Amino acid sequence: MNTITDRLNFLDNKSHDEGNMNLAVHNEGEWSGTQSNYSAFNDAGVECETGEFLYGMVRLLKPQNILETGTHWGIGASYMGMACKDNGLGHVDTYEFLSEIHQVAKRRIERLELTGEVSTHLQDVGTLTPAHQYQLMFLDTEPQTRFGELVRFFDYLAEGGFVFIHDLHRHMHQIHTEGHEFAWPYGKIPFPMQQWVQSGQLRPFHFSTPRGLTGFYKVSPDDYKWGNQA
Ligand SMILES: C[S@@+](CC[C@H](N)C(=O)[O-])C[C@H]1O[C@@H](n2cnc3c(N)ncnc32)[C@H](O)[C@@H]1O
Repeated sequence: MNTITDRLNFLDNKSHDEGNMNLAVHNEGEWSGTQSNYSAFNDAGVECETGEFLYGMVRLLKPQNILETGTHWGIGASYMGMACKDNGLGHVDTYEFLSEIHQVAKRRIERLELTGEVSTHLQDVGTLTPAHQYQLMFLDTEPQTRFGELVRFFDYLAEGGFVFIHDLHRHMHQIHTEGHEFAWPYGKIPFPMQQWVQSGQLRPFHFSTPRGLTGFYKVSPDDYKWGNQA
């Protein structure tokens, strides 16, 4: 077993899922009829490499609290939960508003013996007021609601913490797409988000993954202050 993906796949397949939802690794290009250097368990969740990146982020940051919006079948939550388990600390709160889908993720988290590390909540994140600060957030509901989630949850992101938006390319979707309004499907960047980036409170960075991944670092008061030092 070489990668955390191999481990996740192995553990998930150790027992049969009653709804035939055990994991299987595919080429990421399968859904678009292409060959990709990336792999994926399905076309809705994170690519395996993005999952491995999230696993690595959690191993490195050792966050106490992680928020995921949009659980789907629990792929991202499983990678992050496995990292919490390997860290011996940390907890993932993941939110899904469709009951059947939530059940699939819940069974997976149970099968992987991650119930101590991952709470699968059946709730619309539109109604969520977080109970504490999160050191890591992963926003993965519908594209049109993810900027809004960043704005709503900004105060709950710890200083020095990271928030990632999945399926978001470096152009931030601030482009024209034929047959759609400008900035489809994300919508225009909300004013507070623009302000936080322009004032240096949030620092964006991008990864050229097949589905897109954009991160923001929330600066810490302890960070070195760059200026015109003599
Ligand atoms: C892209 S998938 C999430 C994939 C998941 N993060 C993974 O890695 O496997 C989006 C999921 O978000 C759910 N969703 C969309 N809007 C939501 C909302 N407002 N509250 C909770 N869940 C939502 C959808 O039902 C869908 O299952």
